[in-house]
Amino acid sequence: MRLVLVGPPGAGKGTQAQFIASNLSIPKISTGDIFRANVSGGTDLGKLAKTYMDRGDLVPDEVTIAMVRDRLSEDDAQDGFLLDGFPRNVAQAEILRDMLKDWGLALDLVLELVVDDDEVVRRLAGRRTCSQCGRIWHVDFDDKKDDRCDACGGTLFQRDDDKEETVRHRLEVYQQQTAPLVSYYAAEQILVGVDATGPVEEVTRRAMDAIRPYMA
Ligand code: AP5
Repeated sequence: MRLVLVGPPGAGKGTQAQFIASNLSIPKISTGDIFRANVSGGTDLGKLAKTYMDRGDLVPDEVTIAMVRDRLSEDDAQDGFLLDGFPRNVAQAEILRDMLKDWGLALDLVLELVVDDDEVVRRLAGRRTCSQCGRIWHVDFDDKKDDRCDACGGTLFQRDDDKEETVRHRLEVYQQQTAPLVSYYAAEQILVGVDATGPVEEVTRRAMDAIRPYMA
């Protein structure tokens, strides 16, 4: 299955992607995670991406698209994938459609995670990520009193772009550049909206219920 997750920062895309991808046995491909790995590794791509990410702006399309093309060409993505954070604007969506078409493929489904701005700010202020396995936690909702990952024991860190003013800017960027994807994919008749409020397991259940009719 070829699936895209769309939604504002903090909607729970990364959280849900890890469970959905595991349920479907497909790789989760997060452009944000790939950029962050490059930032940590000090690569040229990471140095470039960091200047945009720290401001909450999108990394230029040509850089992002080349990175996604390389990743989708890898062996583990040949039988399906879950894209988290890509495409992020209509230009990226059009290039993804053409890229897949060249390979004789198409997206099966785009899931929109729906949540309001106040909930997003609350979620991102308490987000912590494991530096070792990438698992996402929340200090309040997961009752995290220490900075250790319960899954692997790795150290948890707070993302640089989770400061409140950067989060507000990321929400504006989302409204201006990414929200138009909702009508773009609705017109392609592959968009399904999922209520992303409530407990994580409940959202996963709703997402899987939405996906099931599209599974071959
Ligand atoms: P990216 O990493 O994609 O960030 P984002 O889209 O802003 O989304 P987030 O990762 O912040 O949120 P999420 O929806 O994954 O929420 P999460 O599951 O963590 O991108 C970062 C940057 O990279 C961009 O700003 C840009 O610069 C660049 N970039 C990436 N892709 C790009 C592209 N295609 N083009 C150009 N630039 C690109 O959940 C958030 C918190 O809420 C967590 O603490 C979690 O535990 C908690 N939570 C989740 N679900 C629930 C729930 N149901 N109830 C309570 N808490 C919950």
